[in-house]
Amino acid sequence: MEKRFTVNDFDESKKSRRKITMLTAYDYPTAKLMDEAGVDSILVGDSLGMVVLGYEDTTKVTMEDMLHHTKAVTRGVKKAMVIADMPFLSYHLGRIESVRNAGRLLGEGGCSAVKLEGGRAVTDDIRAIISAGIPVMGHLGYTPQSINLFGGHKAQGKTIDTARRIAEDARLLQEAGVFSLVLECVPFRLAGLISKSLEIPVIGIGSGNDCDGQVLVIHDVLGLGSFSPKHAKVYADVAGISASAVRNYIEEVKEGVFPTEKNSFIMEEDAYKQIERELKG
Ligand code: KIV
Repeated sequence: MEKRFTVNDFDESKKSRRKITMLTAYDYPTAKLMDEAGVDSILVGDSLGMVVLGYEDTTKVTMEDMLHHTKAVTRGVKKAMVIADMPFLSYHLGRIESVRNAGRLLGEGGCSAVKLEGGRAVTDDIRAIISAGIPVMGHLGYTPQSINLFGGHKAQGKTIDTARRIAEDARLLQEAGVFSLVLECVPFRLAGLISKSLEIPVIGIGSGNDCDGQVLVIHDVLGLGSFSPKHAKVYADVAGISASAVRNYIEEVKEGVFPTEKNSFIMEEDAYKQIERELKG
């Protein structure tokens, strides 16, 4: 049995200043590839809505969508810790509903923890979920489910009031018991200060290099997104390679070059002769 990355490894990594790696995945083959490459943790993010399902934002993603994709990811993973996002409105309708939805992601989806967005407004739900035995990761800064409140995709925490609010929320989430916190699109010096001030590891996205770990959306890493956000880095042009493979396939089929005998199946000679006679009538 391979050893799983767990909440204890998150904690140990913070203590030993070992950076934590996290990437998003939404399907079995990508999750398997990442796990075999050695990533510490895999987030089934609700970015699913944009990068896989073609929605404009994450507010359309449902519990059923998250369950479907979490199941696919967990089937491909042996070592990494799989964390699933709680989608829009799945933790805002009362604690019982929040615990039920978090429980479904673990019980049916097979992940080991859930992530949810927000600060002081969600600490009661976080406490209830944790008391059911479910580890919770927090998410502050730019929180995509609130895109309509922010008026678009914008870095958060640039002013003293907003910076103070994010820092206070981070402390409140730690007090509520989250094992880790994602800080998204927060000025790097603020993210560095928050990371130092907390005992739990802070995983940054667009929040600089002083966080305790990093997460990126896999489509951004592989150049599969429709654009590359400022905070991301394209490590491979998989879209370019894929488009050229598809163009080659189309050309070879049209020219009759593919398939060859190597790609085809043979049948017994007698059977062939017989069926040939029958079909020719
Ligand atoms: O949904 C997601 O992919 C996320 C990451 C951007 C942290 O929440």
